[in-house]
Amino acid sequence: MVSRVIPVDSFDLVIFGGTGDLARRKILPGLFRRFLSGQMQEGSRIIGAARSELDAAGYRKMIAEAVAEFGGEEAKNKKGLAAFLDHLDYVAIDAKGDGGWDKLAQLVRQDVIQAFYFSVAPSLFGELAQRLHANNIANAKSRIVVEKPFGRDLETARALNETLAEHFTERQIYRIDHYLGKETVQNLMAVRFGNVLFEPLWNNHYVDHIQITVAETVSVEGRGAYYDKSGAMRDMVQNHLMQLLCLIAMEPPSQFGADAVRDEKLKVIRALQDIDHHHIVRGQYDAGPDGPSYRDDAENPRSFTESFIAMRCHIANWRWAGVPFYLRTGKRMKARSSEITVVFKDLGHTIFEGDEARHRNILSIRLQPNEGMDLQVTIKEPGPGGMRLIDVPLDMTFAEALGDEEHEVTDAYERLIMDVIRGNQTLFMRGDEVEAAWAWTDPLIEGWEARNDVPKLYDPGSAGPEDAMMLMHRDGRRWRDIKG
Ligand code: BG6
Repeated sequence: MVSRVIPVDSFDLVIFGGTGDLARRKILPGLFRRFLSGQMQEGSRIIGAARSELDAAGYRKMIAEAVAEFGGEEAKNKKGLAAFLDHLDYVAIDAKGDGGWDKLAQLVRQDVIQAFYFSVAPSLFGELAQRLHANNIANAKSRIVVEKPFGRDLETARALNETLAEHFTERQIYRIDHYLGKETVQNLMAVRFGNVLFEPLWNNHYVDHIQITVAETVSVEGRGAYYDKSGAMRDMVQNHLMQLLCLIAMEPPSQFGADAVRDEKLKVIRALQDIDHHHIVRGQYDAGPDGPSYRDDAENPRSFTESFIAMRCHIANWRWAGVPFYLRTGKRMKARSSEITVVFKDLGHTIFEGDEARHRNILSIRLQPNEGMDLQVTIKEPGPGGMRLIDVPLDMTFAEALGDEEHEVTDAYERLIMDVIRGNQTLFMRGDEVEAAWAWTDPLIEGWEARNDVPKLYDPGSAGPEDAMMLMHRDGRRWRDIKG
């Protein structure tokens, strides 16, 4: 099998914040790889726009360095890099004033696809949107791309949506949650809706519970100022984990189209029940032999912000009534590992005796690293000694199963930017989804703020605070081991 690359139509992509961290680490290296693969056509251009007084040559030099640093193996292709850089231009622009807008208006063409990537603070979204119109740069077909944090609660998210809606329609707005661009996250939909095996079992008759773990080993060092105002709930749960939850729990959409999929995800978010605070565990990493504590990293000795959170949720609908969904995510944990695990119920009746009866089917979907799935099934232990049962994994690591070298690994950002150009919104969050997610998380956050809840300390390199283990033990269940 060889991956098929279909070129996208010619485009002008303007990146506001084009000299920023995200542009240098992800957006430009990603576009470079798409260029090398032949997906970006010769007529396409990328225009960096930022405050720095650079010219096009200075910008190309900056991006050449960024691609060399973050572009992986492909960055060694010097000829390819030189050809890619020819597609870059730069405008020094003042988001809050008039400087640079004339030049941008001259550069951006009206007869190709236009996309404007707002890789800047959300407080600038309104100004940028307004000036794009006032200077006759954007048109009714332009697309704008925005990143999280999309608000810090329902009120701010709503205000942002309203600001954008003054200038662009929902069909023009692409809200990125980079988890939706991950290969295996999309695979969740393929696995659920492309196989006859799983769907009949995907409900409260057969599923005991579902676990979603996104564990990271990194600390918040270097981004403490942002992180300390958000914490794991706003930074990871409100967006990435809830999106995973939606894809696992949603009803089959009638077709794989942007609104059909997003309608179903929205229904899941709206069906989430409030959580009693006994079913939420917040944690903060302590100092360890190889690093300072969260409070030192965040430079806030009194911080009550959580770097870890675990919770038990319920979805109030026919499919999932009574099935707990356990979510957890944290920094400085024992391994980098993101996994969704579906634990099926015990057999209704077993013909085997004693311990032999206690075997369960478990489906686990690994998002990273070693993307793949395994299904734990029960078999007879080979050899003599009577009927002894053991659990074995039917393991499928996608890279092994599909032949790594023939399948390009596409980074989430590359895929999502190409989807913007293609005009496909399936993997982007709709405004109402974002608002519904905040509407669910807001009362939980307000609850622990009102109680002055103090996060539990946990050792770096662990699986989080002891209370997170208890959250499941109390229910007679346990978390899957976190393995990198
Ligand atoms: C970002 C969060 O959205 O996702 C970070 O702000 C987090 O705190 C990151 O580290 C995790 O992304 P990934 O792709 O490395 O799992």
